[in-house]
Amino acid sequence: MEKIAVSHLYPKEFRASEALKTLRTNLTFSGSSVRAIGITSFGASAGKSTISLQIALAFAQTGKRVLLLDADMRKSVLPNRLRVKGKMEGLSHYLSGQANVSELLCETDVPNMYIMFAGTRVLNSAELLSSENFAKLIPALKEVFDYVIVDTAPLGQVIDCAVIAQYLDGVAMVVDATGNSYKLERRVKNQLVKAGGKVLGVILNQVDIKDQAGYYGYGRRYGGYYTSEEKE
Ligand SMILES: Nc1ncnc2c1ncn2[C@@H]1O[C@H](COP(=O)(O)OP(=O)(O)OP(=O)(O)O)[C@@H](O)[C@H]1O
Ligand SMILES: [Mg+2]
Repeated sequence: MEKIAVSHLYPKEFRASEALKTLRTNLTFSGSSVRAIGITSFGASAGKSTISLQIALAFAQTGKRVLLLDADMRKSVLPNRLRVKGKMEGLSHYLSGQANVSELLCETDVPNMYIMFAGTRVLNSAELLSSENFAKLIPALKEVFDYVIVDTAPLGQVIDCAVIAQYLDGVAMVVDATGNSYKLERRVKNQLVKAGGKVLGVILNQVDIKDQAGYYGYGRRYGGYYTSEEKE
């Protein structure tokens, strides 16, 4: 199969690429055992899929072997966004016993970076994610990859990320700087903790840099990264 083109998606603009490097550094400082990282948010369109992809790219750039796992089986946008032709088998096929992991790992044009797509759209994604197959998947992937970045559906809408949080080493929450109130983000954090997950921090996305004195014309870019303690 042809390699999937992702290299062009690394941010070219200086401030965005610096913010991404800082994010990578902060995730690295979460500890060497934090290798399976979920990305979620309260609401839709916060930037989870964009950031998941770019975090995977940022780790691969340092020579780490990385898998981007698309666990948004209800509404995956990844194949479309990456202009992948044809139907891509993926996580839903593995979870429902129709495929092996090795059949689903797609090579990209970035050395060391692989993708597992979400597969066929399913309505019972939480049910599939609660299966023993998912519990076995993350340890198996960690044998092969240094990092597994898991893009998920918004936790304010579906329970999926809370279901899998216990199997991940940590979850980072993307907050759309233009959107939700802090109270809602806090609810997501509590839900993850209750489900046995570890919240690594908050990624502030879509900050309008034009609002910040001295910077004009950059449009929407990444903001900061805070540990969950800082955000308390
Ligand atoms: N930092 C950013 N700067 C500019 N555009 C962005 C940024 N982050 C996300 N976007 C844009 O916002 C839209 C939503 O982003 P994305 O699909 O990554 O969000 P999501 O949280 O994964 O959404 P969903 O909840 O539907 O899965 C996309 O068009 C994306 O290109
Ligand atoms: Mg998404």
